[in-house]
Amino acid sequence: MAEIRLNDVTRTFSKASALERATPRARGLAGEQQDRAFAERAAVQGQREASGQAGHGDILALDHVNLTIPDGQTCAIVGPSGCGKSTLLRVVAGLDNEYTGTVYYDTQDMRDVPAKDRYIGMVFQSYALYPHFRGQGNLSFFFRVHKAPDAEAAERIRATSELMGFGFELLLDRKPGTLSGGQQQRLAIARALVRNPRLFLFDEPLSNLDAKLRQQTRIEIKRLLRRFQITALYVTHDQDEAIALGDRIAIMREGRVEQVGVYGELLEEPANVFVAGFLGRHPMNLAGGTLNEDGTLQAGGAALTLPAGLRARFGAGRALSIGVRPEHGRLAPAPGAGKVAPWGSEELHVRGEVEMVEPDFARQTQMIFLRSGELTWRVLAARDQGVRVGETVDVLFPAERLYLFDGKSGEHIR
Ligand SMILES: Nc1ncnc2c1ncn2[C@@H]1O[C@H](COP(=O)(O)OP(=O)(O)OP(=O)(O)O)[C@@H](O)[C@H]1O
Ligand SMILES: [Mg+2]
Repeated sequence: MAEIRLNDVTRTFSKASALERATPRARGLAGEQQDRAFAERAAVQGQREASGQAGHGDILALDHVNLTIPDGQTCAIVGPSGCGKSTLLRVVAGLDNEYTGTVYYDTQDMRDVPAKDRYIGMVFQSYALYPHFRGQGNLSFFFRVHKAPDAEAAERIRATSELMGFGFELLLDRKPGTLSGGQQQRLAIARALVRNPRLFLFDEPLSNLDAKLRQQTRIEIKRLLRRFQITALYVTHDQDEAIALGDRIAIMREGRVEQVGVYGELLEEPANVFVAGFLGRHPMNLAGGTLNEDGTLQAGGAALTLPAGLRARFGAGRALSIGVRPEHGRLAPAPGAGKVAPWGSEELHVRGEVEMVEPDFARQTQMIFLRSGELTWRVLAARDQGVRVGETVDVLFPAERLYLFDGKSGEHIR
């Protein structure tokens, strides 16, 4: 067990080899997630090419990463496809040594320690089991490599099977090819555990499993992490998984760690517009533009009237993004011809046409998608609020729920 610390770690790849790898992989992600992942990856690559950010035609897979995972804690790592999550794990594991900066396990600089001597348990999306060994052989392989006595191996395997719970022993007699995805993944987790690792590295281990099995296996992993208090890095595209398993969550983008914190912190106090837009069950509404002379924000082809308090803080010409979460909005009754609008100057008002309504039966809510100019706004409303696609509605967001971001740097303005 150890504290893991990355100090100013940078890893670059040549652009040619990076683009070659950017073709869609056969991934087990749900369709929408998969599309988003690929779209994000393409966008990132496009941006980098356009800005020449990495310089000399290189891709910065890790860009001066500083990150500490305290002993015994789990750090979940999330971020768009291609942002460097797997590269980070490979560097920590010692599978990739072409980085600059330092990786410490406790106080030891790991630069010259080969992967096999680091006592790491790794679990990947592809289970990478040895196909010609039965379950038993997959678990004992590590002991054979390290020439451990048979009795020790047998005892570790027995203890691990017990831990893996009901039905696990049945897998020990079977070859991976005869196991289902979920069973293979359990075996892969057991194989990581059996060697008594001082560090666990998970790279999207559950993304090939169906939703039910994913939840079940997530609970198993949580139990193991709590029981052993082994320091762990856990890469996932699933925010629920990150929340459930991570003591803290690190959000990466384009090779950088944008913010680290517990979920509530990240949600309430995003460091920048990227974190704000990335986290949350429902993405934050974001509108970026420039302040007009009259104090409105010119964003997405519309002039947004900002709450009075906000208008006073910034001058005309200032580039700003405002953000607000869908759950903080409410539908307002239409003012009607000639009447005064029934809302105050301390609310952000958006008028738009309902494009889509997405009911959530379990929570008795509905997500309303509103088109205003070129922007789509989301508002979460109760299920019983009747809204029809095509009708024009007014939506109000309270000023105290608005986030402001610098239009250029994206930094959160407090
Ligand atoms: N061996 C390699 N050769 C060239 N480029 C690479 C290599 N490995 C990673 N890259 C590039 O480095 C960047 C980060 O890749 P990485 O695999 O770490 O992303 P990721 O966050 O794990 O993405 P995903 O969510 O799709 O798994 C990408 O631009 C990728 O194309
Ligand atoms: Mg990856």
